[in-house]
Amino acid sequence: MSTVSVVATKPYEGQKPGTSGLRKKVKVFTQQNYTENFVQCILDANGAALEGALLVVGGDGRYYCKEAAELIIRMCAANGVAKLLVGQNGILSTPAVSSLIRKHKALGGIVLTASHNPGGPENDFGIKFNCENGGPAPDAVTNNIYQLSTAIKEYKIVNGLEIDISKIGTNKYEINGKPYVVEVIDSVANYVAHMKEIFDFEKLRDFVSGKTSGKPLKMRIDSLNGVTGSYVREIFLNALGAPENGVVHTTPLPDFGGLHPDPNLTYAKDLVETVAQGDYDIGAAFDGDGDRNMIIGHRAFFVTPSDSLAVIANNLECIPYFKKNGVQGFARSMPTASAVDLVGKKLGKEVFEVPTGWKYFGNLMDAGRLCLCGEESFGTGSNHIREKDGIWAVLAWLSVMEHTGKGIEDILKAHWATYGRNYFTRYDYEECELEPCNEMIATMEKNITDSSFVGKSFTSGDKTYKVKVADNFSYTDPVDKSLATKQGLRIVFEDGSRIVFRLSGTGSSGATVRLYIDSYEKDNVLGQASVMLKPLIDIALEISQLPKFTGRNAPTVIT
Ligand code: G6P
Ligand code: ZN
Repeated sequence: MSTVSVVATKPYEGQKPGTSGLRKKVKVFTQQNYTENFVQCILDANGAALEGALLVVGGDGRYYCKEAAELIIRMCAANGVAKLLVGQNGILSTPAVSSLIRKHKALGGIVLTASHNPGGPENDFGIKFNCENGGPAPDAVTNNIYQLSTAIKEYKIVNGLEIDISKIGTNKYEINGKPYVVEVIDSVANYVAHMKEIFDFEKLRDFVSGKTSGKPLKMRIDSLNGVTGSYVREIFLNALGAPENGVVHTTPLPDFGGLHPDPNLTYAKDLVETVAQGDYDIGAAFDGDGDRNMIIGHRAFFVTPSDSLAVIANNLECIPYFKKNGVQGFARSMPTASAVDLVGKKLGKEVFEVPTGWKYFGNLMDAGRLCLCGEESFGTGSNHIREKDGIWAVLAWLSVMEHTGKGIEDILKAHWATYGRNYFTRYDYEECELEPCNEMIATMEKNITDSSFVGKSFTSGDKTYKVKVADNFSYTDPVDKSLATKQGLRIVFEDGSRIVFRLSGTGSSGATVRLYIDSYEKDNVLGQASVMLKPLIDIALEISQLPKFTGRNAPTVIT
């Protein structure tokens, strides 16, 4: 029976969306009414616009995704939504959701993912709301959702609504005398069509098959058992003609097969080790929900995300989408190395530096000032949607390879020869205790913002760095003038090198300290990053007293 129940509930503490939605252990989400509360607050945050609206629902297929999708279907029914587009089995990659919202002019989308965090009953789940531009909700909306969650008294649901989301098709209901439609859609079709509009698939197919070069491209695309599996098969095998063994881990699994679905040198180890043996021209991996990417070349030559962004920026003319829509400005998040700035300068484009989080790019894109952006956290994307897009990044790299006729390492070397090189590394100290980390950041902020800090010199080995600027980064959005403060401690030296510290906003327990090191060299571009950056790392550890505060002598992850 399709009747609306109003269920009494009480607020849960801590339903505060982080950098990218609410992420908690599955066990937290499955507490009585926990998910219901948060979904109701998302719906309520839309106010009157919700009545009669279209929403998109889907996620990365991790544990609890399907149940959550079904719950959302029943709650949307009770809250006046007119229509839902739901990925088959609740599956849609994050970029696919963004694309669907924009294509269908939906009011927004509910994305069920904890992105790159491990999945399974003992691990993480997440819920994120994306707005009508297809991008993650801005701070004002997520703050509103949080405020609502602190005072929620009831939620609405149609308990009797039966649906089988494993079957593609249209399901029609009548709720309170009004029609309610749930369309279960093919998870990949719209996204694949969108990619075909952006890239020259014919050219790429010839390139991958070796028709142009006489040599088939050897690729190893690793979906890490995340959502991209079915997208990868459709795009790289079926559309581009790569051989079956060119793709691996393409069955999305609820616990990602025990893999940590984060495409970096530590967690995509199998890919790195396999490509290191020398049999492949390109290796790539994605995170659980398909928005992050890592690119490596022959013998696992690592492309930093900061360099990846700069190289794509430098070659946009080889992608039909940009030929058609023009090239507006570029952007990166503050901790991302500034390689793209140099390309922007040469091409006479605006370059923006925003806080960490893809949501900060949205306004600039909507205002027509930004077409390409990226983050050090393995995110690359363009204004074709309002999320970063892992598969898009690989297609962009294939286009650049095809266009230049060069391998990945040679593309990077040529780039550095023109622009110089931003050596970059990130140290992560995961699952630290929160209190001492907060104390460390507070102490450091006090020290580095003291007027005596600017002009100070620090020496390590044969290198001396003099402080030019030091602050806790804040950002005023050029479009809506909204202000984001305390976005990370930043020490900029006279030669442009930088040390950045911030606490992760995407963890689900404890604190993760991130230390980012960015050092620019005009001529000395072929060094080893770990050696080149050692002096600055030592200085960063000295300034922060990180070992003393965290009790850690080594990072958990280095990227
Ligand atoms: C997510 C966001 C990214 C952001 C990253 C930062 O992936 O989509 O835009 O860069 O989180 O994560 P962190 O753990 O450093 O807050
Ligand atoms: Zn992700």
